[in-house]
Amino acid sequence: MKNLSKLREDFPILSRRRRDGKPLIYFDNAATSLKPRQVIDAVRSYYESCSANVHRGVYALSQEATDLYEEARAEVARFIGCKPSELVFVKNTTEGINLVAYGIKWKPGDGIVSSVTEHHSNMIPWQIISRKFGLKLSYAKITPFGRIDLESLEEEITKNTRLVAVCHVSNVLGTVNDVKRIARIAHDHGALLLVDAAQSVPHMPINVKDLECDFLAFSGHKLLGPTGIGCLYIREGVEGELDPPFGGGEMIAHVELDSYRLNEMPWRFEPGTPNIAGAIGLAEAVKYLKAVGLGVIREHERRLTARTLTILEKLDQVEVYGPRNPDERCGIVSFNLKGVSGDLVAALLDEYGNIAVRSGFHCAQPLHTILGIQSSIRASFYLYNTMEELDVFEETLSRICWELGEQG
Ligand code: ALA
Repeated sequence: MKNLSKLREDFPILSRRRRDGKPLIYFDNAATSLKPRQVIDAVRSYYESCSANVHRGVYALSQEATDLYEEARAEVARFIGCKPSELVFVKNTTEGINLVAYGIKWKPGDGIVSSVTEHHSNMIPWQIISRKFGLKLSYAKITPFGRIDLESLEEEITKNTRLVAVCHVSNVLGTVNDVKRIARIAHDHGALLLVDAAQSVPHMPINVKDLECDFLAFSGHKLLGPTGIGCLYIREGVEGELDPPFGGGEMIAHVELDSYRLNEMPWRFEPGTPNIAGAIGLAEAVKYLKAVGLGVIREHERRLTARTLTILEKLDQVEVYGPRNPDERCGIVSFNLKGVSGDLVAALLDEYGNIAVRSGFHCAQPLHTILGIQSSIRASFYLYNTMEELDVFEETLSRICWELGEQG
């Protein structure tokens, strides 16, 4: 296991100092994570010494690149407990979800059930294809603490429901949904389950077989990997439900002028030259996370979240969203200062403390509407964040509350 306090040295960006000498306090990990040197080196090494295309050449360099790419797939597949043939490399979570949305052989009248807590990546694709193919889209509600309400979910599912599509962890509230129970509810009604795991795979041990889902999508850049690479798990046996939405080289086994035969899994969903360097970098990120231990990361973030909730609860002006119990959250906390623009607070946290948080509706506008707010400020943590950083956060936010209170 890596020592958590030592591993900050692996992240070159953390040694960056602002002009006033303040170090970066990066609390925007739900948007994207920082990258360790090991990942940066793996990407550079591919371009410097092995930069050939994959699956296309008999020459040694191309074979070497192909081996690296397929070894990367095997590494990531092991990480989530599936076979390499069940793991399709895509651009990001959004592309993975869209691949399913455009891939399923829909029949008019088919239904999709999602939830009101989804971010736009797991909402807009369903809206678009519902209009296009005449499908019925409905949403499960959330409980007062922001988890998907399973009774409401079951009420929305009908005999025509073809797919249930929900997030594992809310990118706003940090709440963890009971995906395994949702899988059983979906399957009992003959529907498939897609899990948007963008905010869970980086932060907790995940095994897709334990979750019993049919599809699961996540992004590499949120788990220490490069941008532009992500994964879609497709459970063996379910691939026949999909037609590849994009065509091109490598996704076919045989081509005639008026017909083609699809390649095996998973390549049938990877047309064109893939993001080879991205896949290699992602595998390195996975190795890094495994060396630290996902259980260790989860516990570290639980402690940071508990401390954040305590800090926020002490400040009268602050309103926190989601569960108060840190055991019911991932390392994501959204809040507001009553009557103050979130963008202003985020800008002041940056100016006074070099603290990076996200403000706005975090690509989850309907959830904000349901919460009765237009936007929020979100702090989200990862393995390199520390209690000392939270000391600076507390001091800086208290100063902001005091200053804005004086002006108000
Ligand atoms: N979905 C990402 C976020 O929550 C981009 O910030």
